[in-house]
Amino acid sequence: MGCVALCRLDALGEGQARGFDPQGRGADSLFALRHRGRVRVYRNLCPHLLVPLEYRKDRFLSADGQWVVCYAHGARFRPEDGACVHGPCRGEALQVLVHQETDGWLLLPLVQLER
Ligand code: FES
Repeated sequence: MGCVALCRLDALGEGQARGFDPQGRGADSLFALRHRGRVRVYRNLCPHLLVPLEYRKDRFLSADGQWVVCYAHGARFRPEDGACVHGPCRGEALQVLVHQETDGWLLLPLVQLER
């Protein structure tokens, strides 16, 4: 199965998030974050109106780094599973993308980008 390398794992520090545009479309279609040591990757799509979450490059988290935030209407999502706990899409969730961590790299299986 083919994978695309998103970044070095050590480039994603605790409480940080980073957007990626692996298909070269000019906008970040997914983002990765590290929360309590674990990396997660989500599609950059708010379940409320299916728009990107961030207000500028790589700003996916609240100021304290504890929540994923959609800046359109302030929805908050748990970083560990993407569940919306506050806002207009409460009860819905971000789409998790399965990733791999290999030889210090964060990899994403290409098959997920085709959906
Ligand atoms: S579009 Fe995300 S909260 Fe409305």
